[in-house]
Amino acid sequence: MDQEKKDMAALSDWFMRFKRVLPWRENHSPYRVWVSEVMLQQTQVSVVIPYFERWMELFPTTQALAQSDLDAVIKAWEGLGYYSRARNLHAAAREIMTKHAGRFPSNKEDLLKIKGLGPYTAGAIMAFAYKQRAAAVDGNVRRVIARYDAIEENIDLAKVQKRIEARTHSLLPEIDPHHTMEGLIELGALVCERVPKCGKCPLSSGCKAFAKGFETQLPIRNKRQKTVSLHRLVWILFHEGHVLIRKEKKGKVMADLWHFPFFEMNKNIDLEQVSAELESLIGKVTYDQELDVIKHGFTRYQATLYPHIWQAKNRTDLPGHTWVSIDEISKLPFCSGHRSLSEIIASYL
Ligand code: ADE
Repeated sequence: MDQEKKDMAALSDWFMRFKRVLPWRENHSPYRVWVSEVMLQQTQVSVVIPYFERWMELFPTTQALAQSDLDAVIKAWEGLGYYSRARNLHAAAREIMTKHAGRFPSNKEDLLKIKGLGPYTAGAIMAFAYKQRAAAVDGNVRRVIARYDAIEENIDLAKVQKRIEARTHSLLPEIDPHHTMEGLIELGALVCERVPKCGKCPLSSGCKAFAKGFETQLPIRNKRQKTVSLHRLVWILFHEGHVLIRKEKKGKVMADLWHFPFFEMNKNIDLEQVSAELESLIGKVTYDQELDVIKHGFTRYQATLYPHIWQAKNRTDLPGHTWVSIDEISKLPFCSGHRSLSEIIASYL
């Protein structure tokens, strides 16, 4: 047997021995593979587990998801970020009900036509649900292959990614290819991490980066996008046990999520001026107090929230805003930094 075949057999054995027990591995239906893989593109396994379990209780089937309100779907996604993924899951479930009679297509071409379903997820459904010889190449797999083949090019380049995908496919055996495919993902997550644990790796004897002593230098990637700092003065406006909130507009980063209203600000704030601006919008207000600063990150932003409480004399309607009780807040899909804030202010209402 050649080295590559030996390595892939060793990887498959390693995976069957050491794979983590994860809820989406209990039953590989296309729906469960789809939802778990979309969640896993978002964040790490330990964060995904409770979201996945809750999601399957709320929306156990494609049909249940298609019949749910978008607000309930966004609410179940709350805290995972990139809410367009939740909107796409919902839209795609409806598409699968109407165009495919509720059954997932079992070929990659038709899977790719479904809204928001990209090559990675289509590959994962083909490999894990349909047990086909299909590549599902995520960042974990790219790192593994870049080291195994000692690829010294930038793996963020589309042409290099294409080559890695073809290479991954060529490495999959005819028998039980899904064990090798999921093994590559698992190896990237547990062993071939940013700092690799080569002493534990089933591929180390054939790994070219390891042979050359390059393993920590690879893979080569684009420089990270800089994070952008945002400073926001958050208005907590109370009126008789109610608080004013607004929903982010469509097309914005946090579209469809609720939050407390805020002004973007410079470091120095003049509270008198803010109160005057508030009064011009909603009538008489009385300044109450400042709350502790809250930091929260989303996409490439790092936001610092500076919350201040005012009491409003009247319950004035403001376009795009609504007055709610704290109980109602807990039921709405809320942006995560503002969710922490709502928990703090619950004691003030
Ligand atoms: N990351 C992406 N897909 C995964 C999977 N199926 N199991 C564990 N981690 C993953």
